Amino acid sequence: MNRQMIVTRAVSIVFFVLLALPALAVAAAGGQDTLAQAPPMGWNSWNHFGDHVTAADVRQAADALVASGMAEAGYRYVVVDDGWQGKRDANGVLHPNARFPDMRGLIAYVHSKGLKFGIYSSPGTTTCAGNVGSAEHQAEDAREFASWGVDYLKYDLCSFTQRLAGRTPSEQVALMKAAYEQMHRALVATGRPIVFSLCEYGWGKVWEWGASVGGNLWRTTDDIRPDYESMWFNANSEQGLARWAGAGHWNDPDMLEIGNHGMDNPDMERSEMSLWALLAAPLIAGNNLAEMNATTRAVLTNSEVIAVDQDPLGAQGHLVDQQGPVQLWMKPLADGTAAVGLFNALGRPLDATLDFKALGLRGAVQARGLWRHQDIGPVTSKRVFEVPATGVVMLKLGTPKK
Ligand code: GLA
Repeated sequence: MNRQMIVTRAVSIVFFVLLALPALAVAAAGGQDTLAQAPPMGWNSWNHFGDHVTAADVRQAADALVASGMAEAGYRYVVVDDGWQGKRDANGVLHPNARFPDMRGLIAYVHSKGLKFGIYSSPGTTTCAGNVGSAEHQAEDAREFASWGVDYLKYDLCSFTQRLAGRTPSEQVALMKAAYEQMHRALVATGRPIVFSLCEYGWGKVWEWGASVGGNLWRTTDDIRPDYESMWFNANSEQGLARWAGAGHWNDPDMLEIGNHGMDNPDMERSEMSLWALLAAPLIAGNNLAEMNATTRAVLTNSEVIAVDQDPLGAQGHLVDQQGPVQLWMKPLADGTAAVGLFNALGRPLDATLDFKALGLRGAVQARGLWRHQDIGPVTSKRVFEVPATGVVMLKLGTPKK
């Protein structure tokens, strides 16, 4: 190639790169893969406030997130679930209802606290609570959300399920994929980074395709309820799904019920927090933050347990041993140690040991109690732990790599 050809080639490369820059910037800004590098943390209105949530509830939650120390502990997203929607006007614009008279102001307020804002919609014509969904208006809604300053969208299948009726399983998966991908593209086109939370209850093995349609997290089960059985079921439903989780895309066993009536027993609270952390699950609190008690606050803000959830290795833990009502879960951590939880599903305390063989351990290993913030010293497979009724013993095992 002669000199002139090289110069011409170089000029044209620069020209095309410059041409492509806006498109690349959009892709990067909206690129779901750069979001949610660790499981998202925040608060969502649904589990406590349901369909009657108000702007004042959301403001108070944002205030409490900061005042309680939760924001400092990593909880960032304030998400308004179903119940904010009003009517769609003749121009196709969806307006908030009277309980949200100033959505832009509310979002600006949340942002002013250093927090991020999430909202909720559905690919169906109506949401699960019967409010207006985004069907036929995906692009308008995405643009509207972005212009308000939305940072997170929970997109809930709801009435879209009617479109799946009578179809074969593979047709159903194709329809769901198309619906989620359509909204993903609409979000990317806004140029605003918006975390995309898929909510379709684990149908059609969403973990196998959630990331390919832009999902940063996807629900793996039906709705959680504020009781131990439901919490236990949702956690156990994630067995075998570990390989689908990682930076940017997480299995979601649903929002926390910690602090809600029915799950306000401290041992149950610690069990849910420990399981979600071992599962590298999104930590989305679902209680009334403005009125939580000191124990609930301490459970939600335990920095050592949160560090397990947010660990940079991004590995989802799994069940390694079960003896009757006692389960042993393990999650490998980036520093070469492992987090483990001994869970007791029974209504009375039980003694349990760590199955070193199942954990791949031998001899004696250093142990630290993560709920008591206590170095326990070397433990062997013979060490007996008393696990409280519907409670947990959560440990970090091993010596960190230098
Ligand atoms: C579904 C979802 C819940 C919640 C409600 C709102 O049931 O699974 O998490 O968003 O809809 O109506």
